[in-house]
Amino acid sequence: MARACFLISLVVASCLVWKAHSFALSAKLVHRFSDEARAAAASRIGGGGGERWLTRRSKEYYQMLARSDLLRRKRRLGARYQMLFPSEGSETLSLGNDFGWLHYTWINIGTPNVSFLVALDAGSDLLWIPCDCIQCAPLSGSHGSLDKDLSMYSPAESRTSRYLSCNHELCSLGSTCGSAKQPCPYRINYYSENTSSSGLLVEDILHLATSEDHASVQASIIIGCGRKQSGDYLDGIAPDGLLGLGFGDISVPSSLARTGLIRNSFSLCFRDDDSGRILFGDRGVPTQQSTPFVPLDGK
Ligand SMILES: *[C@@H]1O[C@H](CO)[C@@H](O)[C@H](O)[C@H]1NC(C)=O
Ligand SMILES: *[C@@H]1O[C@H](CO)[C@@H](O)[C@H](O)[C@H]1NC(C)=O
Repeated sequence: MARACFLISLVVASCLVWKAHSFALSAKLVHRFSDEARAAAASRIGGGGGERWLTRRSKEYYQMLARSDLLRRKRRLGARYQMLFPSEGSETLSLGNDFGWLHYTWINIGTPNVSFLVALDAGSDLLWIPCDCIQCAPLSGSHGSLDKDLSMYSPAESRTSRYLSCNHELCSLGSTCGSAKQPCPYRINYYSENTSSSGLLVEDILHLATSEDHASVQASIIIGCGRKQSGDYLDGIAPDGLLGLGFGDISVPSSLARTGLIRNSFSLCFRDDDSGRILFGDRGVPTQQSTPFVPLDGK
């Protein structure tokens, strides 16, 4: 296939060169799975090659066309880039007043994996989840529209977890630590009054899937082990954690982009009924309009 592309660009180049001399050059296009191409391949390989040719309009024939179409699109996008969504699905949910009217999605973390229903927040960076709780919102019962209990995370129960140490470059409270090897603490104050999450930073696996063929991808990300929440977080908002989608280096989109899994972007799309989807690495269609971020406190 690479050779076919090369040939076509050669023909184009010849056209340009020859045009200057007022010659006309024409090229005959032969579909690469046509009988004519098949005959040519057979004679080139010495008779036997033609037998590998797929029967036109067979299931395998269409599968091969779809595969090569996908490859071509990938090549145009740049093979490195793909779109990812949480392994539980790209769906986002709006759970109404009980959950503070925010949008949520299910994510899977750790090994063995545990599911969390996290609020999506484009205004902050950290992903935190209730973890080895000292002060967390209630996780069982009383979640009206949900049919399952929410979970707590515990680094000790995940084989792939690792505490971030105080000397890690993403440990912003590192200077408050007694020693460089200690686990890195975090504390985030949110704009709602008295609303915060604090605990220790942990590195673990976030389970994702590719949008193209739903292949599973395990990405190492940084998570706030949220041991102590306050304010709105004890009052029905984000009881099972919050996924920060901001520009900071610690956010999930930034981490995925840094490791080369996606381009540094994501999309959140909402339907009329407030359900929606989230895609990491999505840049949307080239013709779409965009709205700049609104500065908050002049930042
Ligand atoms: C999560 O764990 C469940 C049960 O152990 C398993 O069936 C599922 O495949 C896991 N999901 C991922 C994305 O690893
Ligand atoms: C925030 O905390 C302070 C000090 O504890 C308290 O006086 C104040 O009423 C709290 N504000 C809200 C909105 O709960």
